[in-house]
Amino acid sequence: MTDIRRYPDADALADAAAALFVQTASDSIAAQGRFTVALSGGSTPRTLHALLAAEPYRGRVAWPKVHVFWGDERAVPPEHPDSNYRMARETLLDHVPIPEAQVHRMHGDLEPQVAADAYEATLRATFDEAAGDGFDLVFLGMGDDGHTLSLFPGTAAVGETRRLCVANHVDKLASWRITLTAPFVNRAKNVAFLVAGAKKAATLKRVLQGPRDVEALPAQLIAPVGGHLAWLVDEAAAADLDRQAL
Ligand code: 6PG
Repeated sequence: MTDIRRYPDADALADAAAALFVQTASDSIAAQGRFTVALSGGSTPRTLHALLAAEPYRGRVAWPKVHVFWGDERAVPPEHPDSNYRMARETLLDHVPIPEAQVHRMHGDLEPQVAADAYEATLRATFDEAAGDGFDLVFLGMGDDGHTLSLFPGTAAVGETRRLCVANHVDKLASWRITLTAPFVNRAKNVAFLVAGAKKAATLKRVLQGPRDVEALPAQLIAPVGGHLAWLVDEAAAADLDRQAL
């Protein structure tokens, strides 16, 4: 049964996501002395980040034990308005004491393939491949076209089965992205989609309750092998879902 958690609005959803971050961080640090988390880009995470950067949530996280990564990045420098790194730095990282060496930026300022290869090396150095180790928590968004991370419909990275991180050209955006791959995200212990807004309702219905079609709906690729997947959605995004199936 899919774990779909519905909230009245985007603010309530963000609050629940902040509580999930705090709880998962606490459990991970208690169990292994660190918490590895991949942040999502886009606009939805902004409210979540602001909650984590302020009390009461800020004081509930052992920030020096947190290791921050990204799910994807645009091929732009870190100071560019479109940079996911810049958004996270402004809304969260500049307000919490995570050691710089534990903030792992995807280098959107480098040649995309070079950046992807370098990030993959960082991931291999962080996670035990043989043990199938992955992130403690991955936050994901979903576009109204069914993409997640930078796995857009019809793009090469959707079919990637071996790599952990790749450069992916997105024709419809006429731009390159750097993105984690679905197989690597599926090694995570916890994955949480954050989906808010009426614009997402039709696609969320297709992704969760329609036929499997990962080329058209790459968000359907996300299915943690041994971990837990939760969909945190607001009522507006959940409006088209068949209630009986929830
Ligand atoms: C990005 C994101 C992307 C995002 C979705 C949803 O770089 O844009 O990683 O996958 O999560 O596009 O974005 P919103 O939260 O802005 O709707």
